[in-house]
Amino acid sequence: MTHGVTAAPAMVDLGDLTGDVLVFGGPVSNRQATEAVLAEAEAHGIPPGRIVCTGDVAAYCAEPRATAELIRDAGIQVVRGNCEESLGQDAEDCGCNFASGSACDALADAWYRHARADLTGELRAWMAARPTAIRLRLAGFELLAVHGAPSQINHWIFPSTPLRDKAFEIALAGADGVLAGHSGIPFVETVQGHLWCNAGSAGMPANDGTPRGWYAVLSPDGDRVVVTLHAFDYDHATAVARMRDAGLPEGYATALATGRWPSEDILPRDERCAAGTPIAAPQHLVWTAGSRETTAHAGTHAACGCCA
Ligand SMILES: [Fe+2]
Repeated sequence: MTHGVTAAPAMVDLGDLTGDVLVFGGPVSNRQATEAVLAEAEAHGIPPGRIVCTGDVAAYCAEPRATAELIRDAGIQVVRGNCEESLGQDAEDCGCNFASGSACDALADAWYRHARADLTGELRAWMAARPTAIRLRLAGFELLAVHGAPSQINHWIFPSTPLRDKAFEIALAGADGVLAGHSGIPFVETVQGHLWCNAGSAGMPANDGTPRGWYAVLSPDGDRVVVTLHAFDYDHATAVARMRDAGLPEGYATALATGRWPSEDILPRDERCAAGTPIAAPQHLVWTAGSRETTAHAGTHAACGCCA
């Protein structure tokens, strides 16, 4: 069932952009965090036409309808996440690709039912009409924004994902760099001169023991792009209270306050090991043509030795 939408565009091309571009992922029904990240964009002076959300507008938190309305009415660019795909089709589950029996799998039923009940048919149609990819050019670089990865909407790419896998996905993108979401841990790196940037989630902390939301700003500077990962504080106490009022599972409500996911069993070993270690912010990566440097790599940590 597609609520009157028969064909969503596979890709939207924004063309050449001038000025800073703000990217964020995962509003996840967190109205307070969504308001905060949009306020951050306004504070940076970045207009809606240069703001890209990499999807999962409605998920774990209490206010799917209000969050989706905020995002839609902001007029920003939104890539279809697996949650938009599932909710837009009124599917039976979220399509997150969680392993059967995982903590995520157990929790998903409740939040997905809540989102499905709260969203209007009009919003589900809007979700179904989001493109699966957004292409843009910045300072001569071509970038492709997707949800999980170019190969698959719900493919997990983490900081520890092998470089060869990232290189494979970048080649599939046919672009100089990829802007992705879905996995929820912010990181940015260059892979054989190509960019992989996951701006993290605005509405769910980065499992780093802090309650912060995340976004990235890509700033053109001559023939290079400076990519900056930003963290922001917001009224997470209200978001937690709304989740409890709605009777949603405690795991994700607690996560908003503690910054620790209830679902670390889905993570690769390196990311499980890094859990609870605050990610530094802001941090910068200078991306130049042919660059081989990896100057920023948030989401992993170096101190404990257990990942060696
Ligand atoms: Fe997702």
